[in-house]
Amino acid sequence: MQIYMPTNVYSENNCVMNHKMELAALGKKALLVTGKHSSRLNGSLKDVEAALQEEHTPYVLFDGIEENPSVETVMRAVELGRQEQADFVVGIGGGSPMDAAKAIALLIANPQEDEQILFQEKELLALPTAEIPTTAGTGSEVTPYAILTIHTSKTKQSISHKIYPKLALIDSRYLKTADTETLINTAVDALSHLLESYLNTNANSYNRMYSEKGLAVFAKIREELMVCRRQKEKPAVSLSEQVFEDLMQLAATAGMAIAHTGTSIPHGLSYPITYEMHVPHGKAVGIFLPGFLTSYQNQEEVQFVLGQMGFASVEEFTEYLDELLGKAEIPEGLWIEDVKAVLSNQAKLKNYPFEIDQETLYAFRR
Ligand SMILES: [Fe+2]
Repeated sequence: MQIYMPTNVYSENNCVMNHKMELAALGKKALLVTGKHSSRLNGSLKDVEAALQEEHTPYVLFDGIEENPSVETVMRAVELGRQEQADFVVGIGGGSPMDAAKAIALLIANPQEDEQILFQEKELLALPTAEIPTTAGTGSEVTPYAILTIHTSKTKQSISHKIYPKLALIDSRYLKTADTETLINTAVDALSHLLESYLNTNANSYNRMYSEKGLAVFAKIREELMVCRRQKEKPAVSLSEQVFEDLMQLAATAGMAIAHTGTSIPHGLSYPITYEMHVPHGKAVGIFLPGFLTSYQNQEEVQFVLGQMGFASVEEFTEYLDELLGKAEIPEGLWIEDVKAVLSNQAKLKNYPFEIDQETLYAFRR
């Protein structure tokens, strides 16, 4: 059994400014990687720029990361980073910029390689990265994973390299400008990480500590999420500072859980749904959680995780998720292809500890 969490994590208000020296100590010139809008709206980009300026560390900005970032976008940022001789990368935003930052850090550090290397096994080092999350879902700030969109295969895929951030600076105030859909979908992504990690071939009693703690945090805030779903105003109107902090803790704890185990079948099934139907990642995963729990062959463990979340049964959990997420009408053709693709890919099945047949997997769609 092993616990390995090499990322230096700080979580507090004003986190970026408080730890500006550690941020600047990662190198001589930073490449900031973010999307077009949200890091400006929530103040995270401004904080990072101010922190680096105060430390007299130059930086260059790439703000073109889209949702579900593509390999092509990553390569544009790599080109900028290489030209500007950046020697560390700061990802600012949700999972998309944070994942992209890792892939970019790998390729800038290895100028002899091109994008092919992202999905090939080879021992390579990446530039140091810092991650500053502004959504509470992916946990990318503490995981070694980076998921990119591959247009040629019409899906999303994890790169083959494990790149742990050196530094994670978590400030829950950045969540306050989030809209309801983002807040809920990302929280369900984190919840999926906790469940898929606990019920996992690679799970052991050490890394299950992360899931147990995370599920208890979810139990604390699940009704608050439902209040967000039912109201029209932005989440910031109804949620307290404590709930925003809990959400960030939920995501980071869930990230630490999957860093040890990987995810399982709900994530494997979700990628074509996101690619083809543009269903946000958290929702695309969440809709398969009831099927995952129902079909799981160790129902004692399922009862345990349900209890940790404060649900008496899978039915109660399903009812909750249906209202929280809404349904996604997955077309028959896409669904059949998706099920077939998962069943024929050992990499997508290996973290599920039991045999699973086509009929059972087919029933995951609701
Ligand atoms: Fe996820």
